[in-house]
Amino acid sequence: MATKQLYIQTMGCQMNVYDSERMAKVLEPFGYSLTDSIDNADLIIANTCSIREKARHKAVSFIGRQADLKKRKPGLILAIGGCVAQQEGKNLLKQSHHLDLVFGTDTLGRLPGLIKRLENGEGRLTDIELTGIIDEIDPYFGEGKSTEASRFVTIMQGCDNYCTYCVVPYTRGREKSRPPEAIVREIISLARAGVREVTLLGQNVNSYGQKEGLPSFAELLAMINNVDGLERIRFTTSHPKDFGDDLIAAISSLDKVCRHVHLPVQSGSDNILKRMNRNYTRADYIEKVTALRAACPDVAIGSDIIVGFPGETQADFDETLSLIDEIGFDGLFVFAYSDRPDAPSSAFGNKVEEKVKKEQLNQLLKIQEETTRQKNAAMVGREIEVLVEGLSKKGQDNQAPQYSGRTETGKIVNFVSENGSSKAQSGTMVKVSIERALSHSLWGRAVQ
Ligand code: SAH
Ligand code: SF4
Ligand code: F3S
Repeated sequence: MATKQLYIQTMGCQMNVYDSERMAKVLEPFGYSLTDSIDNADLIIANTCSIREKARHKAVSFIGRQADLKKRKPGLILAIGGCVAQQEGKNLLKQSHHLDLVFGTDTLGRLPGLIKRLENGEGRLTDIELTGIIDEIDPYFGEGKSTEASRFVTIMQGCDNYCTYCVVPYTRGREKSRPPEAIVREIISLARAGVREVTLLGQNVNSYGQKEGLPSFAELLAMINNVDGLERIRFTTSHPKDFGDDLIAAISSLDKVCRHVHLPVQSGSDNILKRMNRNYTRADYIEKVTALRAACPDVAIGSDIIVGFPGETQADFDETLSLIDEIGFDGLFVFAYSDRPDAPSSAFGNKVEEKVKKEQLNQLLKIQEETTRQKNAAMVGREIEVLVEGLSKKGQDNQAPQYSGRTETGKIVNFVSENGSSKAQSGTMVKVSIERALSHSLWGRAVQ
């Protein structure tokens, strides 16, 4: 069969990265192989994100830019998938006359059938049904070796929490979980291919399996902990309201589960948390973090913050500042609030000015930079286990090879290894003595 070239532009979160791999996998038996060159593509897929207006804009302008290519190459198939496609459906076909296919987030298994119909000359198609089932398409099977030491695995998808600002319940549908057997089988095959770390993905991993009556998330972690060859297990995202004692016990007792938790708080103000429909208070959040730190004193905690939620006052923002100070996060993602279609907060009054949001965002980033600098400085002089991900960017043109990897707590470490490639290959665990702390990474030397 002649090979056709597939180009995928992935925008958005880790779940989209995983889904793009599944799209490539499901199209492979139909003669499509991945290319890095958009000009050579026979099929272009934009896998899109709708979380903020900026992300949506990026998706729509990417599609717009392909109009010329399509004119030059009439046989080219142009498809849009992911969260913008799910939410906007056939309206996208109306907006972009050169677009051939709009497909949703739940039906990746149907992609070959849709592409076949387009290849056979059928007109422009839309398929955005939310089926409530995650199609089983394992992205990595066979005897081949993985080029990456770390991979994503979706364990559940969708969200029932309906935070008032968020579009995800409308783009990923209701919460649904994959059977544990399918997840474990996939991870065994990844480990056989040389993968040493998996990051389990879900919009709210803590409520994994609850609806279906499957084992709990903590029980799933215990099953995955038994996979031979796997060294590290990460997961994201945890919702504070469902972050329970069983999960804390799993993190502290299971040796492969990293002491690294992303626990988005969004705001330090009870008033705002309530209006966001987060279902926990500032005190609840602090209590959970305290319990987690008591069980795992060396745990790293990261978070997300939204600044400028409608109606947020300076006093509310001050509460966020004081929470950040009280917790001392290891990492922080800060977002300026953005109105989303379908999200109830779009209709809330007292919108905060863009200028104010920008100032607050920069203020939080600055504070976090200083905390990270202090936390990184405290690592100097320590010997830390690093999972090697490959040569560092600098390492490739330096005489002494410089490698790059991550600590259990997710920090990037660039290091030199005197006895070179035999020791520090991608996928190996290397003990590194930390010599310098930089603002976004650590620098060290492999311990012989
Ligand atoms: N399921 C995860 C988050 C998914 S979205 C959770 O509940 O924490 C990732 C982050 O984007 C969110 O944590 C939030 O901080 C941010 N976000 C979501 N909607 C947003 C909006 N409308 N405007 C700005 N930031 C938003
Ligand atoms: Fe969005 Fe809230 Fe669900 Fe996270 S928990 S995906 S922020 S609705
Ligand atoms: Fe974006 Fe969809 Fe992920 S909206 S953040 S790609 S779930």
